[in-house]
Amino acid sequence: MYTLDDVRQFCFACTKCRLHETRNNVVFGQGNEKAVIMFIGEGPGYNEDKQGIPFVGAAGKLLDDILKAIDLSRDDVYIANIVKCRPPGNRNPLDDEMESCIDYLRWQVKLIKPQIIVCLGSVAAKNIIRQDFRITRERGEWIKKGEYLIMPTYHPAAVLRDVNKKKPVWEDFKKIKQKYNDIIAMSEVGS
Ligand code: URA
Repeated sequence: MYTLDDVRQFCFACTKCRLHETRNNVVFGQGNEKAVIMFIGEGPGYNEDKQGIPFVGAAGKLLDDILKAIDLSRDDVYIANIVKCRPPGNRNPLDDEMESCIDYLRWQVKLIKPQIIVCLGSVAAKNIIRQDFRITRERGEWIKKGEYLIMPTYHPAAVLRDVNKKKPVWEDFKKIKQKYNDIIAMSEVGS
């Protein structure tokens, strides 16, 4: 059985798709390796590629603010992306790039064993929930898949582009916090 460090090393050495040719850093993921909640974004942007850390640009700052508003921090959760290397010019990752990369994320999920997975945006939701998932119509409801409870919500970058998405995202995060509290309370009863 591989460890998370093994999977990180595999990613750092990865040349499975063209994105390795232009990356400065592999953005593997960050946070609590025993997290109850895992956030999954799309892929690194300019700042993430420079620093090797997910969600450190403007969208990341908003994600930090939303986490703070529900009394959580990056140390409580784990954050990763569908693709680990930056698509040039911040274009969406291509199908073959996502296919090459998704097994790393599957490994991360299996090893971290979060109870809640939050899909940030359409690219994450399509890869994690189903290919024809429509984020605008279907976000905000819990989806049970195997052992995981999945909450699809808008990507923070989409909220920055469209202020009308702020309220629905806040509603979604209130549900996430409630579920998180329920899970923590249950684990305290069981221990
Ligand atoms: N957008 C993403 O989807 N992921 C990041 O890490 C940064 C911005």
